[in-house]
Amino acid sequence: MDMPDPERLPASDRGGEADIAVHWPEEPLVPPPRNLRRPPHIAEPGLRERFRRDRFPAYFDEYAQLLTWNRRWDRTLDSDHPPFYRWFVGGTLNASVNCVDRHLPGRAGAPALIFVPEAEADPPQIVTYRELFDRVNALAAYLARGLGAVAGERVTLHLPMTPDLPVAMLACARLGLPHSVVFSGFSGEACGLRIADSRSRFLITMDGYFRNGRWVDLREAADRAYRVAHAQGHAPERVLVLPRTPGHWRSERPLRAPVEADLEAELAGYRSAREPARELASDHPLFLMYTSGTTGRPKGVQHNLGGYLAYAAGTTYYYQDLDPEDVYWCMADIGWITGHTYIVYGPLALGAQVVLYEGIPTYPDPERPWRIAERLGVTVFHTSPTAIRQLRRLAPNGPGRHRTSFRLLTSVGEPIEPETWHWYHAEVGRGAASVLDTWWQTETGGILCSTAPGIDPMKPGSAGPGVLGIHPQIRDEDGRIIPPGSHRAGALVIPHPWPGQMATIWGDPRRYVETYFQRFNTSPESTDWNDWPYLTGDGAVQAADGYFRILGRIDDVINVAGHRLGAKEIESACLTVPGIAEAAVVPVNDPVKGRCPEAYVSLRSGTDPSPELADRVTRAIESRIGKIARPTHVWIVADMPKTRSGKILRRVLSAISNGRPPGDLTTLANPEVVAEIERRVRSKD
Ligand code: WTA
Repeated sequence: MDMPDPERLPASDRGGEADIAVHWPEEPLVPPPRNLRRPPHIAEPGLRERFRRDRFPAYFDEYAQLLTWNRRWDRTLDSDHPPFYRWFVGGTLNASVNCVDRHLPGRAGAPALIFVPEAEADPPQIVTYRELFDRVNALAAYLARGLGAVAGERVTLHLPMTPDLPVAMLACARLGLPHSVVFSGFSGEACGLRIADSRSRFLITMDGYFRNGRWVDLREAADRAYRVAHAQGHAPERVLVLPRTPGHWRSERPLRAPVEADLEAELAGYRSAREPARELASDHPLFLMYTSGTTGRPKGVQHNLGGYLAYAAGTTYYYQDLDPEDVYWCMADIGWITGHTYIVYGPLALGAQVVLYEGIPTYPDPERPWRIAERLGVTVFHTSPTAIRQLRRLAPNGPGRHRTSFRLLTSVGEPIEPETWHWYHAEVGRGAASVLDTWWQTETGGILCSTAPGIDPMKPGSAGPGVLGIHPQIRDEDGRIIPPGSHRAGALVIPHPWPGQMATIWGDPRRYVETYFQRFNTSPESTDWNDWPYLTGDGAVQAADGYFRILGRIDDVINVAGHRLGAKEIESACLTVPGIAEAAVVPVNDPVKGRCPEAYVSLRSGTDPSPELADRVTRAIESRIGKIARPTHVWIVADMPKTRSGKILRRVLSAISNGRPPGDLTTLANPEVVAEIERRVRSKD
């Protein structure tokens, strides 16, 4: 048995998630299916050998060779200034050429995107590579010629899951405008803060979209985003609004000239325009993706063109095992990194047929995904444990009622516990598909741990070994490597750079170094990358066979249904409510979403506790961050458990929320408050 020992995880006074990580016994290996349609790419003889550690970094040239370059690179890796790295130095390329133009000879009429509107009565719409080319060119031409956009300027995209989103991303990429996609479910306020932080010149948004059968209006969010960005000192110059349905505006709200414009009308003169793709340096920024970190402010994770795109294409090729015949469906939202890498950049770089679904998996019923998969002939399917749990709970026999043809089923975003894994494998895949648990992060650009499809034995509950060219390690508190099979958990690190690795935090290189490298760096002056192991922020344990089991975050990040939320961000939202003196937000286990935030607040003197006040806290969280961050409960407490130096001990609150004993209270200045809080929470008072 290889049981993780949570006590051995790096100490964190916040308690983090490590101490409530899921603990299941080591599962036996499941052999990969033998009836694959064809051998996967990863079965290539000698492949593993070529990606051996002693061939670092040259082996990553193989990933870059999957792309089309204007000019070939001279140097695989420039590591002269660690932890700032440049990949494929001297090379020039363009992402939109790689994802669109280069597929035109021979594949112009093939589907690039198969858009499935949420309303089932609306038939799927195919966007061929030719049409994608036309639409990307039209928007790029308008941005460049109509608005004078120049390479390097940022564009924020607050768009839902329609083809307009990948079109906008690729149009930006064509011109070298780094895009910053804000998840459409995020509030206007969250969008505004990201516009200001990225100093975006333009915001592209939509009148609204359909979700769970309802119309969600985005016009108000755009208005709020503009005002928030303005208050932060950086309003966007133009707000370009598309109608969800061409030619049909659903929102009543008028467009406010001159800032707001109807993008559909603006594009009218550019429909057949061609805009030359800019030849860009490999280290040109491709996009920013904001993600929650350990402090309140979201970080703009910056990914650069050549390294990111090579890594996206390489991991899609070997691990999603895609080729142009595959019909591939990733149910994630493009507003998260998974959608960037494994809906847009990776699959389109390989010329695959990509399904884009507008809605939620359970609309109008929890068998919808299987109907879509049957109708479109989906061969490779990618989703999150939360979605799988939900579909299983609501319709456990659903998959068996449909004639699906999955060859490969993949999962990402949270640990997938064995029970859920087995259902995915047996019911969804009928035991005939490989199941991949892929572990990675916004910062890593692409998958870092996974088994190889159709080749490696699978182990439910374990992500697997490092992928090609990635050699992860577990370190103890003092930075010592914990060897595989030692039954001890620790901090998961990547001891070397890789092409998908983020370039920096936008506008804050210091924070990049502090957040990801300071922990295990012993000589800040060192120019040897070996001295700069990358800290993932996850706790993990490595079995004797080399497979990694991810235990969860060891920092302040709460992973809700595979989406990262910063505990501190939610706490600052609580503190905006008048009368709230202190707030502590902790993760509570949830059978479907994995984790949910739960809030504890204490009041200023003179403020009385009331259910209305708790509601105000919930509403503040929803409007600051989005409904996704809604707490399961807001507990108004007389005082927070604190250390003598006045730090709130979230570990104690997290234990109480999860029905565990509060643990050692000797460091508390006010241990007496604990029993009272416990009594309240237990009685749901
Ligand atoms: C968690 C999503 C266990 C982990 C691609 C990580 C996982 C964070 C897995 C990154 C997995 C992601 N097993 N945990 N297969 N995949 N995580 O940045 O805690 O949204 O650090 O990237 O999700 O979330 P992010």
